Amino acid sequence: MLQNKWYLICPSAELTNKILSQKILGEDIILFRTKSGKAAALEDRCCHRNVKLSLGYLKEETITCGYHGWEYDSDGACIKIPSQLPGTKIPPKALIKKYPVKEFNKWVWVFMGDEENAAKTDPPNIPEMNEWDFTYKTHVFEADLESAAESLIDPYHIKFTHRDSIKQLLGQIEEFPAEFRINILDDGIEGKYYRANTAALTEKAYFGSEPQLEVYYRFYYPNISRLESRFKERTLLILEHFMQVDENRIAMMQITLWKNIFNFFPPFGRWFMARKSNKIVNEDIALLRSQKGILDKTKDNLHEVSVKGDEISLAFRKYWRTKMREGGNES
Ligand code: FES
Ligand SMILES: [Fe+2]
Repeated sequence: MLQNKWYLICPSAELTNKILSQKILGEDIILFRTKSGKAAALEDRCCHRNVKLSLGYLKEETITCGYHGWEYDSDGACIKIPSQLPGTKIPPKALIKKYPVKEFNKWVWVFMGDEENAAKTDPPNIPEMNEWDFTYKTHVFEADLESAAESLIDPYHIKFTHRDSIKQLLGQIEEFPAEFRINILDDGIEGKYYRANTAALTEKAYFGSEPQLEVYYRFYYPNISRLESRFKERTLLILEHFMQVDENRIAMMQITLWKNIFNFFPPFGRWFMARKSNKIVNEDIALLRSQKGILDKTKDNLHEVSVKGDEISLAFRKYWRTKMREGGNES
């Protein structure tokens, strides 16, 4: 599991004075915002009798355990034990683990590691996350992390996996030899290619009828894939953030962002995109789940064939595996 990395939680506006529970890399954590505005992430455990703190409640700056009322501040230090007489010292070991939190581009990120390593790295900078209209949803399911990360930027799957949702809107690449222009970067891979514009007439009327559509793809190590379809004046951007929940399950957050689409009525845009994205992501999930079942069974006897059209996936895997070998757990 990829320790010492930043993981995406939710838009900043959604972290409020309410307990949010998450399982990341097998660890149960709680997140909340104090009344004074500080974002906090703590382990979901009270060190008195080891019950879940998420069963307790928040006060302005603290969280109270629901069992005997021990109260912790946003750094995880116990500051009040109701059964102790006033003036009695709180045991110094009454302290739970806290995780570094960062608010970046108006999203909340949590660092699965310690403060010292967190200071050395930043989450990927994707300014569109704070500038464009968007919708997002997190899906938890059994899948192989590497394969999930690969799937969004896999150019040939769109026409087949998403035959009932995206249909022809993003165009086709089967008709001419695609040039993927793969660039290997320090923090991932990127490139662009073109798809023949095969959108339906009504879609062309809105999105434009240029013969070719530009597609930009990017993988931000360690956990975000990006696919951007550039129409003449409108852009559709899909980000997928993925993380290991436990040994078998991953959480995939799909964020769909857009520019100059549905400007006439943004709430309609968000409703429409949320429905569409959900359908699209469920189409991917069905395949990724089935793949995990087969990968688990075949393990080392994997019979897998690749062709030239898999260039992006192969470049991604090479990059990913090199990073893993170099020690994925270093920041
Ligand atoms: S178990 Fe939390 S206060 Fe006792
Ligand atoms: Fe897909």
